[in-house]
Amino acid sequence: MSAPSGTVIELRQVRYLVDGTVVLDGADLSVARGEVMGVMGRSGAGKTTLLRLILGLTQPTSGQVLVEGEDVNALSTPELERLRLGMGMVFQEAALFDSMTVADNVAFPLVEHRRASGRELAGRVRALLEMVGMEGHEEKMPAELSGGMQKRVGIARALALEPAIMLYDEPTAGLDPISAVQIDEVIVRLKDQLGVTSVVVSHDVQSLRRVCDQLALLHKGKFIASGPLSELEAGGNPAVRQFLSASQEGPLTED
Ligand SMILES: Nc1ncnc2c1ncn2[C@@H]1O[C@H](COP(=O)(O)OP(=O)(O)O)[C@@H](O)[C@H]1O
Ligand SMILES: [Mg+2]
Repeated sequence: MSAPSGTVIELRQVRYLVDGTVVLDGADLSVARGEVMGVMGRSGAGKTTLLRLILGLTQPTSGQVLVEGEDVNALSTPELERLRLGMGMVFQEAALFDSMTVADNVAFPLVEHRRASGRELAGRVRALLEMVGMEGHEEKMPAELSGGMQKRVGIARALALEPAIMLYDEPTAGLDPISAVQIDEVIVRLKDQLGVTSVVVSHDVQSLRRVCDQLALLHKGKFIASGPLSELEAGGNPAVRQFLSASQEGPLTED
């Protein structure tokens, strides 16, 4: 059912209101297969909401969210569950199970969905941890790891079911610069080695510059600019310029 190429995620005129507040107000976005799309926006711009809409955890007030050509909100519950298995979500908080070892955390989806057991399971867990540079930490507890290491274990767990799509909610927030670079390298590796399509939501401009093929700026409920970084930098959009230069003055900080 999945389209072999072309657009993997598409938002069409998505509006989302909550408690009378307009969060998204006609947002259009298109993510092509195998690319890393960076979504920039200030706090409260609606970035997490966007990821929740893509996962079908939240329904738009109007408009459509298409994943692999399927309207997320027109699917039955089992169909939506199947679609969601193809998406790995990395939450802003690492969201590991505190009482489980690193290995058991990463094994969890494989066990739950009966994808592997016994020796095969241990091998799969090791391969997943290698992918994020965390091999050798299998028996540690999450509390023994730094924030960046926890985040990488979270990525390994999100990868366990081999999703074609990865969604990252502020993956480098709160990390030191070296840990942030390690996360960025993982995101790029997944694209290069596995062809994973990714949406990275962030206000870390340096990180977005490192990982993204395309960038889109979410402001006042709309994507007001999108394209490759070079194009956005060359273009004259003052809001984009303000965001990329982290400047205090400009359209983003008006009203
Ligand atoms: N379930 C909800 N109930 C009330 N307000 C919400 C809810 N979800 C999002 N919002 C509001 O929507 C806006 C965007 O939130 P969010 O998507 O979390 O922004 P971001 O991730 O860009 O910081 C915020 O003003 C937030 O308060
Ligand atoms: Mg958020």
